[in-house]
Order: sequence, then C-alpha cells, then structure tokens
Amino acid sequence: MSDAALLTQSIAPFLLHARINAVTLPDCAGLQLYLLNDDFPHDALSPEEMDWALNEPSYWMFCWASGLAQARQILQQPELVRGKTVLDFGAGSGVVAVAAAKAGAKRVISCDIDPLSLQASAANARLNGVQVELLDDFFQLNERVDVLFAADVLYDSANRSFLPAFLDAANEVWLTDSRVKSLTAPHYQRLYSVMSETLPDLNEFDEFRLVNFYYGRREQS
Ligand SMILES: C[S@@+](CC[C@H](N)C(=O)[O-])C[C@H]1O[C@@H](n2cnc3c(N)ncnc32)[C@H](O)[C@@H]1O
Repeated sequence: MSDAALLTQSIAPFLLHARINAVTLPDCAGLQLYLLNDDFPHDALSPEEMDWALNEPSYWMFCWASGLAQARQILQQPELVRGKTVLDFGAGSGVVAVAAAKAGAKRVISCDIDPLSLQASAANARLNGVQVELLDDFFQLNERVDVLFAADVLYDSANRSFLPAFLDAANEVWLTDSRVKSLTAPHYQRLYSVMSETLPDLNEFDEFRLVNFYYGRREQS
C-alpha cells in the first residue's frame, strides 16, 4: 500500500471523507508533503468527527503557517543548516525536518509525541528523497545538536517549559510562532515576522498568518 493510502487509512475511521494527498508547497523549492485534501468539508463535521478532531488532533495532516515559514527560511538560507545536525521539535508533518534535509543538513531528527506524526515525517522524507531519524521523546535525545527548530508548538503553554531545555540541547534554537506575539524568555529574542499560511487553508484570521521568528542561543563559557 502507498504511503498516501496508509496515512488516509489511519484517519478513515474518524474522518469519513478525508483523503491524504501529496501537495507541492508554494515557494518551497518543490518540497512536497502528504496533507489533508483541501476540499475536505471541515465546517460540516459530525459530532463524532468533531470530538475526535478536538481530542486527538492530527496536526500532521496540516502544514501550519509557522512550519511553512520556517521551511521557506531554511530553503532560502541553506547555510543555516548545511552540514549540521538538526532537530525538528513538534515536527507534525515533518515539514521543517524535510526542508533541513533538502537544504543539506548532515543529520535530521524529527521529534514528536504523536506516533502518527512520526509516520508522516518518515513518509514525507521518502516523498522528497531525503532521510530523517525519528524520536518520540525529546528527553531521550542523547547528544547535543547544532540547530533545533520548533514551529508552532507554543500554542500549548505547557511547552514553554521546554525553552531552557532547548538551549541545553542545541547551540542555536529557532522558534516560529503565530500565536505568541511577544515571547519573553531568557536568551531568546524576536528577530522578525513574515506572512504565511496554513495548508490546507483553515481561513485563519490575518493575525494567525503573521509568524514571529524567535532566535535563542546561550553564550558558551
Ligand atoms: C501545531 S503542530 C506543528 C507541526 C509542524 N511543526 C508545523 O509547523 O507544521 C504541533 C506539533 O507538536 C507536537 N507536540 C506537542 N507537544 C509536544 C512534545 N511535548 N514533544 C514533542 N512533540 C510535541 C504535536 O504532536 C504536533 O504534531
């Protein structure tokens, strides 16, 4: 069975009319992802489907605005990752991991607590002809990486507790987020913002299309 069919099968019991298709992302150097069909009628979910979507959200079916913005930045500035070991925290579809691998990273680790997300990362790596390693528990990382990316993970305020651990685990940290407008955390600073979009389009307000780039680094002693 193809990766698209396997991923579609994983959601079929919950979302009756959903399909997972390969989509070429705009302005991403031909990067493709398996995503939810964009004609999926998400405003007409049954109560059971809505319950599933709210309680066990399959984030990997979407390319979130922050992940798309981060992937574009990596592909436009490959020197950020070239020859480096990279970790994509909260990988979802693995869009950032795949972009880093395409841009010439030496090793790429896709980290997510959702097993289906890791399956999607692996499938998306195959789709793009690149390699990514999979990690289901950030605290099992047993090495320091060069660059850690975390795109659209701060929607869950509990994830803010990871910010110091990211600096322990990586020489450089990039956080991209459209929900958190002004992050104040030691060793992190906001650098700039760009407009982006979630795919398939969720018709989000413009304020959720404006993605902030935060950069973190701890001075080495
Ligand atoms: C909104 S999605 C973003 C996905 C992707 N980075 C993007 O921008 O398209 C957030 C992802 O973070 C993952 N996540 C949330 N908490 C996590 C944790 N503690 N460790 C690893 N992954 C986590 C979720 O399972 C989900 O796949």
